[in-house]
Amino acid sequence: MEIVPLEKQHDQERFNSNTPLLDEYIKKQASQDVKRDLSACYVLQDNEGIVLAYYTLSSNSIQREGLPVELLKKLRLPPNYQNLPAIMLGRLAVDLKHKGKGYGKFLLQDAFEKCLLAADAIGSLAIIVDPIDDSAAAFYKKYGFIHLESSSRMFIPMKTIRELINS
Ligand SMILES: CC(C)(COP(=O)(O)OP(=O)(O)OC[C@H]1O[C@@H](n2cnc3c(N)ncnc32)[C@H](O)[C@@H]1OP(=O)(O)O)[C@@H](O)C(=O)NCCC(=O)NCCS
Repeated sequence: MEIVPLEKQHDQERFNSNTPLLDEYIKKQASQDVKRDLSACYVLQDNEGIVLAYYTLSSNSIQREGLPVELLKKLRLPPNYQNLPAIMLGRLAVDLKHKGKGYGKFLLQDAFEKCLLAADAIGSLAIIVDPIDDSAAAFYKKYGFIHLESSSRMFIPMKTIRELINS
């Protein structure tokens, strides 16, 4: 089993994570977004090309005001930097049949590695996510994501990811 970019030959028609928004996205929208350079989509496929899980990444940004003061100090951001570069982990879902097998964690680790490579090449302060519900937020929290102030959006600094991967 491997994680590869979404291609025409993949079979995502039966994908069912029990989250209709995420299921509709991989079936109807993901390929078009990739084609238009709006996001990258990576899938965990079996040996017949059936999609077992997927995630998406795209360029984004976060406003300085949303970041906790402690973190601003820790990251030593210059005071005049307001709009900060980030990578959006837009969607991540595992087919119900494969829940609890470690695929979600595998995908997240793969996303961390790709984001770190991108950040090393072009600079990015953090990965951000908009969890779809409390359960998704709990999943992201387990892996070090923190809530932005006054928002359901969560983020993890690239610095933390670099330390995780290089430790
Ligand atoms: C959330 C989701 C991605 C988890 O995928 P998964 O493959 O079932 O998770 P894994 O088997 O990789 O679990 C890895 C670890 O996270 C934990 N975990 C899984 N789902 C969790 C949740 N919702 N909250 C807290 N912890 C969770 C597991 O217990 C496991 O912990 P352990 O290593 O200490 O045993 C999956 O359930 C899913 O697709 N849900 C619907 C869509 C969704 O919520 N997407 C999230 C982003 S919007």
